[in-house]
This record gives sequence, structure tokens and C-alpha cells, in this order.
Amino acid sequence: MACNVVVFTLFLFLNLLWQVPKTSAIVPAIIVFGDSTVDPGNNNQISTVLKSNFEPYGRDYFGGQPTGRFSNGRIATDFVSEAFGIKPTIPAYLDPMFDIKDFATGVSFASAGTGYDNATSDVLSVIPFWKELEYYKEYQTKLRGFLGTERANQHLSESLHVISIGTNDFLENYYIFPTRASEYSVDQYQDFLIGIAGNFIKELYKLGARKIAIGGLPPMGCLPLERTTNFFYGSRCIEEYNNVAKDFNKKLQSRVTELNKELNGIQLVLSNPYDKLLELIQNPSHFGFENAETACCGTGFFEMSYLCDKMNPFTCSDANKYIFWDSFHPTEKTNFIMADYVFKNVLAVFR
Ligand SMILES: *[C@@H]1O[C@H](CO)[C@@H](O)[C@H](O)[C@H]1NC(C)=O
Repeated sequence: MACNVVVFTLFLFLNLLWQVPKTSAIVPAIIVFGDSTVDPGNNNQISTVLKSNFEPYGRDYFGGQPTGRFSNGRIATDFVSEAFGIKPTIPAYLDPMFDIKDFATGVSFASAGTGYDNATSDVLSVIPFWKELEYYKEYQTKLRGFLGTERANQHLSESLHVISIGTNDFLENYYIFPTRASEYSVDQYQDFLIGIAGNFIKELYKLGARKIAIGGLPPMGCLPLERTTNFFYGSRCIEEYNNVAKDFNKKLQSRVTELNKELNGIQLVLSNPYDKLLELIQNPSHFGFENAETACCGTGFFEMSYLCDKMNPFTCSDANKYIFWDSFHPTEKTNFIMADYVFKNVLAVFR
């Protein structure tokens, strides 16, 4: 009798243990929105001058292939996908080489050069942020056709949605063209962008997304291109831009906190790259880098996209010694360090 009780209790207990993996569902796919930091080649398929599907881009990628990623190898979201045990790379939604079978375990709608603001994507005729959401809706329809409605909905609610965007709104738009700067103070422009970010997250939520990580801004005053404009001041980081990024991240964190309260069942996190990237830039040798100021490609002062050319004799031979690959984008090694950091410190809640 007593023995039966013990067996029964043990049975219950084991049953509970068994159920743990089911309730804390693992992530079946990474779904990505944003700009060049997470674009694996969508811009290859559109009419824009902002491309990178030629050498020397991709020279350290599988097979030394340029893909449209703005790096010498993989980008951060590829490493995040790998860390979740899904797959080593996330394909571009517009790439005709892939279809819904591939996209079911991860897809990126990101477009290099885009921003929260419609006026930012207009600058280089790239995919506007709102259009990425339209592609996502189309993707959902295809996924339901592929998995069946019920499984697809479950899948979508368990998938991790990643958003990485915002730098271009300042560096390609606000600080270059007078329109936005005459309409908004920096403070107001930050609020305008965060309004768009919040609405985007609410749309994702309405569409069934529950796990969402939104990226903050990097220390964008330290990008080599920005340092170059500071040439006569010793190529230091532009403090003003770094402060804008820090303020923006603070505001975004508050919005994230609010949305977590507002939207029932959402798991929304801010993935803030600021401190970690600045740590790399300030202590490059600690991470095995030799250069934190200029980029590997070309002279390292200004080249990116078509200006980053394989015939350029100045391009470095070992990109692992550089934090930046071109004047605006990190090397694969930096992408790995950042992804690893974010995975362990921020995305761990989704595992
Ligand atoms: C951006 O453009 C889209 C499409 O025209 C529009 O629906 C949306 O409201 C615009 N966003 C903002 C913030 O103006």
C-alpha cells in the first residue's frame, strides 16, 4: 500500500519532469527584421546602390562566397541561430535559392540602409521597415500552407523575432539631410523612432509573435566612417553620436518595460549592444584585435559597399585583427563576440 503511494508519487514527479521541456518551449526559428547588421542579402534582389554581394565581402564565409552580408563572414543573427542549435546561417527572404522549407526554421526580412523612419529607407531606395512587416505577413501565409494553420501558429508563437535597426536613421538621415533635423530636435526624433518601434512590436504581437528581442543602438560615433569625419580632431569617436545612442537605448528600455506590462504573454527584451561593443573598441587587444579605429577593407577610413573593392591594395589580410570590416560594419569575429554575449546575457530567457 505504502509502496504503491511511493510509486504513484514517483510517477507523478517523473511526469512533471517530463513535461518541463514542453512548457518551456525551445525556439524553432529566428525571424529577423532590420538593417545591414542583419541583412543576409535581401538587397541583392532590389534596385539600390547599397550592396555587398561581391568580393572581398564574404571572403571568410563558407566557400569564400559573397552573399550580400555586410561582413567578411557571418553576421550576428547567423551566430544566434547557431547558438540556439537551429542552423548556421539565416537566409534572406527575397533570395530565390530558398523557399518556405528553409524559411520555416529562420528567415530575414532585413534590408541594408533602412531605418525606422520611412524617410531613411528612401535615401538609398531600400526596403522600408513597414514593408518588412508586409513580407512577414506573406511569410505567415506560406508557413500555414506548409505546416498547417495550427502548427504554424504554435511555431510562430515560439519563434524568436529579432529587430536590429536605427543607426541609419541618425547617420544616413538625420545628421546628413536637413529635412528631419528641421522638423525634430534630436530628443523629439528619438521619440518619433521609438513610437514606430513600439507600433511595430504591437503589430508583431497581433500577428501572433510572443518572443521578441529588439536591439538598441551601438556606440555609433565610433564607426570608422564617423571617426574619419572627425579627422582633424584625432579621429576620436564622435561623443555626440554616442550620447544620442545611449539616450535612445534608455528610452527604448522604458518602452520595452511598458510593453511587457501592456501586452499579455509577451516576452520582450532589449538587446543592447552599446556597452559590449564599446568595451571591444576601448580594449581591442583584450579580445585579440589590433585595430579598433579603421576598417579592414581598403584604407579603412571610408570604404563600404562598391567602394570596398577587391582590387583595393590596402585591404588587410587578416580581418580577425580588426573590429570593423568596412567603414560601417563589424568583422565576422566582432559579430561572433557580440552574438555570443547577447545569447548568453539577454536571449538566455528564451531557451
Ligand atoms: C510609412 O509609410 C507607410 C506606407 O506608406 C505608412 O503606412 C506609414 O504610416 C508610414 N509611417 C510613418 C511613421 O509615417
